[in-house]
Amino acid sequence: MNTQAISTFSQRITSVEQLPKNLLDLDLATPIPDECDDEDRIENTVMAFRANLVRHMGFEKALKEMARCHRMGRYRLDEPNCLLITGESGCGKSTLRRTYVNQYPRLELEDRTLIPVLHLELPSQPTVKNVAERMLIQLGDPFAEKGSAEGKTARIVTLLKECGVELVILDEFQHFVDRSSEKVEYKVADWLKSVINDSKVPFVLMGLPRCHRILEVNEQLRRRFLPRVSLHRFRIDIQDERRQFFSVLKNLEKSLPLQSPSALCEKTVVPRIYYATHGVIDHTMKLISESLNIALSEHRPTIDQDVLRRAFERVIWADARDQDNPFHQAFKDRHLNRAGEPFYGYQ
Ligand SMILES: Nc1ncnc2c1ncn2[C@@H]1O[C@H](COP(=O)(O)OP(=O)(O)OP(=O)(O)O)[C@@H](O)[C@H]1O
Ligand SMILES: [Mg+2]
Repeated sequence: MNTQAISTFSQRITSVEQLPKNLLDLDLATPIPDECDDEDRIENTVMAFRANLVRHMGFEKALKEMARCHRMGRYRLDEPNCLLITGESGCGKSTLRRTYVNQYPRLELEDRTLIPVLHLELPSQPTVKNVAERMLIQLGDPFAEKGSAEGKTARIVTLLKECGVELVILDEFQHFVDRSSEKVEYKVADWLKSVINDSKVPFVLMGLPRCHRILEVNEQLRRRFLPRVSLHRFRIDIQDERRQFFSVLKNLEKSLPLQSPSALCEKTVVPRIYYATHGVIDHTMKLISESLNIALSEHRPTIDQDVLRRAFERVIWADARDQDNPFHQAFKDRHLNRAGEPFYGYQ
């Protein structure tokens, strides 16, 4: 099993007073002043738990593919090999992007900024103009909004070179496909192809599964984006993924700062967590973090099914009836993806 240990603070805590005052070196963890109250301490502990990065197999594989694409880019091939990463909402695409980019920070030189990896989110209604502008802003162009589309494109190609950009990551790429009509922004797709060709910098595109549609209809982009990785939800009807999901829960369990082992990895509870989260990492983190919050606030030594049931109501489905709550005994195994349910629209 390749799921790695997550960054952790694994000491078991028996009372609120024992919660560390200054958790990890997290960006989000503002040091808790001595006079802070229990609520602040609990909140910080929960947020620190929430900030754990789960390096599951799909995540590692995608990181590896990005690194490969990045390495290949250094050869400046005429047609750089690019990469498409798709996944449903909350499966960790943007987290992956940030994790990768953090390994290659910008470097301020006297005369310019080195940007090994340029990354940005595409606007919701992309046009050549607004995408080019966003790229220029990220490249530090003080006149990003000035000039014609051609002028902007030429500046992008120059700046990509001057800033030593080795890889570009574009997130939210599904905006190239209109949700209702499935119409693809051909113009922008063609423009993108020419930026890739002129700059010879490989691109990683990230977005929802409907991104595949863009490559279906644009054969020139399709050729450049042959390697594809999917960062999907865990599915317990597939044995290997069931193991991975279990492994994720086991690692999260290890990093829970609670007095006693929780119910997360119990045989009868794992499928309930699966139905409660649809196997999506975002919902899994939310459910367990909220459970930790409840356990700490109520001075409970552990997370049991009752805690999970209430956490589900708080962070996943407030209006769930008993039979819709996977942690209630009235629940019968089923996906919660009918219209009006939390996972409607997910596969
Ligand atoms: N590998 C991970 N380890 C821990 N938490 C994660 C991981 N991946 C995602 N998360 C949690 O899920 C949340 C949502 O993830 P993220 O924003 O990366 O999803 P996404 O695939 O980009 O979704 P969307 O398509 O809606 O933009 C994150 O804020 C984080 O809390
Ligand atoms: Mg995202």
